[in-house]
Amino acid sequence: MSRFKAKRIGILTAGGDCPGLNAAIRGVGKTAIVEYGMEVIGFSSGYTGLIYKQYVELKEKNLSGILTLGGTIIGTSREKPFKIVTDEDNDKPALIKQNYHDLGLDGLVCIGGNGTMKTAHLLSKIGLNVIGIPKTIDNDVWGTDLTFGFDSAVIIATEAIDRLHSTANSHGRVMIIEVMGHNAGWIALYAGMAGGGDIILIPEIDYSMSKVCAKIEERYRNNKPYSIVVVAEGIDHPKTMSAARYLSESIQARVDVEARETVLGYTQRGGSPSPMDRILATRYGAYAAQCIAEENFGNMVALINNQLSTIPLEEVGGKLRLVDYDNPLVIKCRKMGVSFGDD
Ligand code: F6P
Repeated sequence: MSRFKAKRIGILTAGGDCPGLNAAIRGVGKTAIVEYGMEVIGFSSGYTGLIYKQYVELKEKNLSGILTLGGTIIGTSREKPFKIVTDEDNDKPALIKQNYHDLGLDGLVCIGGNGTMKTAHLLSKIGLNVIGIPKTIDNDVWGTDLTFGFDSAVIIATEAIDRLHSTANSHGRVMIIEVMGHNAGWIALYAGMAGGGDIILIPEIDYSMSKVCAKIEERYRNNKPYSIVVVAEGIDHPKTMSAARYLSESIQARVDVEARETVLGYTQRGGSPSPMDRILATRYGAYAAQCIAEENFGNMVALINNQLSTIPLEEVGGKLRLVDYDNPLVIKCRKMGVSFGDD
C-alpha cells in the first residue's frame, strides 16, 4: 500500500475567467481541508503566481461566502510558462518546479480551459502532481461533456435574446446578437435555440451571406415582421469589425430592411454563477481533491454522461470540443426552420 498522503496542495485559476471559479476553489478547498485534513494555498493570477511564488493561504474561513461570487478570488491570467519568447522565459518551468518543492506541495489543482490543461500536462511531465478542472463559458474543452461557466453564459445570452424580440417586433427590424465563442459555437447554438433565434451562425458551419439574406426575405414574405440572428464572434468575417457589425452592414446592403447589432461581450463572463454551474463547479472541485488524496494525477476531472471521471491531460491539451455538423440540437433547429446560413 502506498505511503503517500497529500498534506499541502495549491490551486490556481488560469485563462479567461467565468462564473463558477470560486465555487470550484471552494469545492477543492473545503473538501481538502474538511475531508482530508490538507492545507491549501491559492496562487495569484494563474501560472504567474506559481512562477513568482505569489500566493495566499486558503483556510476554511477564506472559502466561506464565495460560492455565489463571480470571477475568481485568487485572480487569473493568460500566462503560458512553457512559451519561450525571451531568455527569461526559459527559466519559468524550472522556477515553478523549485517553488512547488519549496512550498512543500504534494499536489496542484489547475482550473482552466484548453490552454491551461496543456500547461498542466507539461507541468505533470516535469514531475508535479497535477490535476485539472475544466472551465470556460465556451464549453469547448476536449474530454468532458460540460464545463462550468457555460450554463451561466447561456442564461445571460438567452435573456438578451428574449429582450430583443419585442423591440425587433415593434420596429420590424433584423436584430443581430453576437455572443462569445471564437472557435466553438456552443453558446450561440444553445442560446439561439433557447431564445428562438431565426438564424444561428457558428464557426463550425460555413454560412453564405446570400443564404442568410434569403432566409430574412422568406420570413418577410411569410408575414414575419422581424428576424433574430444569433452569431458567434468567431464566424468568418473581416477582423476590422465585429461579426455582428459585418452582418448588419451586409444584410442592409442586400435586403431592404433595418438591421441593428448587439455585442454581448464580457457580460457573459461576469457575475454570479447559475445554480447548475455552482453544482458542477462544486462537484469538479470536490472530486479533484479526492483525486489528489487517491494519487490520481496527470488527469483532468470530467463529466461524461453525468458521471464524474478523469481523462489523461495528455489527451486534452491542444484539442477543442466543437459543435458537430450533425449535432442533435442543430438537426432539431433545422427541422423547425432555423437557418444556419448554409441552407
Ligand atoms: O475563452 C473564453 C473567452 O471568453 C472567449 O469566448 C473569448 O473569445 C475570449 O475568452 C476573450 O478573451 P480575453 O478575456 O482574453 O479577452
